[in-house]
Amino acid sequence: MPRRHLTFRQLETFVTVARLGSFSRAAEALHLTQPAVSIQIRQITESVGLPLFEQTGREIRLTAAGQELLQTARELDDSWNRFESAVDALKGLRKGRLRVALVTTAKYFLPRMLGAFCQRYPDIDLELEVANRARIVERLRANEDDLYIMSFPPEELDVVARPFLDNPLVAIAPLGYPLPAGPLTLAELAPHPFLLREAGSGTRRAIDRHLARCGLTLNVKLSLGSNEAIRDLVATGMGLAILSRHVLGEHPEQDGIRILEVDGFPLQQPWSVVHLRQKILSLPARAFMDELLPALGEGRPG
Ligand code: PGA
Repeated sequence: MPRRHLTFRQLETFVTVARLGSFSRAAEALHLTQPAVSIQIRQITESVGLPLFEQTGREIRLTAAGQELLQTARELDDSWNRFESAVDALKGLRKGRLRVALVTTAKYFLPRMLGAFCQRYPDIDLELEVANRARIVERLRANEDDLYIMSFPPEELDVVARPFLDNPLVAIAPLGYPLPAGPLTLAELAPHPFLLREAGSGTRRAIDRHLARCGLTLNVKLSLGSNEAIRDLVATGMGLAILSRHVLGEHPEQDGIRILEVDGFPLQQPWSVVHLRQKILSLPARAFMDELLPALGEGRPG
């Protein structure tokens, strides 16, 4: 059969005639003239080599060959729809924008994680918004971004949160700071001057919760919105601090900092990727959740 002469257009006409049982109604539905419909049906009939319709009185009915062609046309239509959605999915995934809002402390590891993602999907434009926890929660509430990275998914919002990495908070001191040797308690450290993150930060929230649990207060000399500034001020000898381990380099002592051994430390909480439960995730966002997080060891202990 000279298959190449059959077009999608002709098949659409054939299916419409079969469905409506009438050349004139099909012509109307397709915005064609009736002779145009007749010509197309004649062309398909010639290609197939058998009649597709038979006339009984005023009605037209499908012949056996017509039934076969109708079945095939429907299958083709399904396959084409599947193909179209697959292509849409590919287009949506390879191209597009992924907007991730992260808390200040996550910027120490997230860009590295995202490097692999960017290499894999070079046409996805990434937009990162960095702010402290309070501001990130506001953005989440207003549904401003695709995904959010933070330690404490807000309890007051209906969210989906997927933990994927530990965020240990450690107590630090300047190298050579006079402290008794061996493990310490937070109560022993409490009278020393502390530099802490600002209220509204996730780090401060974790510290304040721990202090409340222990019934302690610290001698807070300075509250600052910058992890780096705190780290550098500690190194210059200004006081002690509690910071995410991610903020310190691999060898903190080379930067003039000692991680202290303190009862109950490090304070542990995982980093989570968070979004509002009702959010319809874009394909890039879904790829981030489904491909990147498992690759990073989501759910693995430690
Ligand atoms: P922060 O957030 O950078 O605002 O301290 C850290 C966190 O969510 O643990």
